[in-house]
Amino acid sequence: MKLRILLTGSHGYIGSVMRPMLEAAGHEVAGLDTLFYEGCDFGPVPAGEPLRRKDLRDMEPRDLEGFKAVVHLAALCNDPIGDLNPALTEEINCRAGLRLAALAKDAGVERFVFASSCSMYGAAGDQFATEESPLRPLTPYAVSKVQTEEGLSRMADQRFSPVYMRNATAYGASPRLRIDVVLNNLTAWAHCTGKVRIMSDGTPWRPLVHVEDICRAALAALEAPREAVHNQAFNVGVDEENYQVKDLAEIVRATVPGCSIEYAPGASADRRDYRVDFSKIRRALPGFQPRWNARLGAAQLESAFSLNRFGMADLQGRRYTRLLQLRHLMDAGALDSELRWRTSTEQQAAAASRRDLS
Ligand SMILES: NC(=O)c1ccc[n+]([C@@H]2O[C@H](COP(=O)([O-])OP(=O)(O)OC[C@H]3O[C@@H](n4cnc5c(N)ncnc54)[C@H](O)[C@@H]3O)[C@@H](O)[C@H]2O)c1
Repeated sequence: MKLRILLTGSHGYIGSVMRPMLEAAGHEVAGLDTLFYEGCDFGPVPAGEPLRRKDLRDMEPRDLEGFKAVVHLAALCNDPIGDLNPALTEEINCRAGLRLAALAKDAGVERFVFASSCSMYGAAGDQFATEESPLRPLTPYAVSKVQTEEGLSRMADQRFSPVYMRNATAYGASPRLRIDVVLNNLTAWAHCTGKVRIMSDGTPWRPLVHVEDICRAALAALEAPREAVHNQAFNVGVDEENYQVKDLAEIVRATVPGCSIEYAPGASADRRDYRVDFSKIRRALPGFQPRWNARLGAAQLESAFSLNRFGMADLQGRRYTRLLQLRHLMDAGALDSELRWRTSTEQQAAAASRRDLS
């Protein structure tokens, strides 16, 4: 059945892969995004990406009219961004997300697929985390995902089915590439410098999933019968794709010609350390057929870096690193301290006041 879907965060790393996949499956997709990463394109700019430029915090009832489903990706999306301003992470990721869900429910949206994260397992010890495992979020970002799931769960009823997609850490090429996720980062460093640079002691466990497989899982959650997904959490990934960072480094070393492994100075243990059990999604959502593994992903990235002449300026610049881009927009006065876009008059006033201070 063709669904009319609102896709928030449609201009991001995952959203710009998800949109064409949902459309190819026959659904009608309306994108919504505030465009924090406008111009941060990798490779050819995708054609035909109509979207509404709107801040999630400003959603109104009419923005939800006529949709059967929402896939909610928009968020401040990694641990360093959350650490920069925990209150904003809570406001955008949790409060605005729950408000969106309430508006969606009022508008008659039946299914709300939420991009959650395996990072909520935090430090899971030697056990493989299942959806029933205790949640030990270690960062404001992970806390925001836990609180959003809890709030959504309270809204679940006969006519509104939230689904919590606890995605593993994404990797792989996207028209809005990020290199602040582990495999992309290791491959980008290797490609540009000949070194696979590890920022921790290499021992933490991380489950990985290709960005396309995240999209396949969301599609399966949208199309599954209600009773298979209603108010359910799913770890999104594949059992074999739990890696220690040092194993990922070895994969990258074997993929990128002539590179060697290097530990960054001062590298220390990372408390985020979890292995995840992905058997539930395999059982409950047979429509989810993942196609990638980290080895294939590293090869895909390496060839995309070569094709697009990815170089040191890309590695060190803001285009593919979310925190640097947000900082740049704030420093340039385009965004205020609440991550609200300034009007041009406000930008001029902010620039004048910076001149006065200097
Ligand atoms: N990338 C991963 O490894 C990963 C893993 C687990 C879960 N997730 C979740 O998947 C979702 C998408 O992640 P991504 O990697 O594509 O991130 P991304 O940063 O590339 O994309 C997020 C998009 O949301 C938009 N956005 C942010 N705040 C907004 C606001 N206030 N109003 C409207 N739009 C806003 C941004 O402009 C951006 O286009 C996030 O919810 C993230 O937490 C990602």
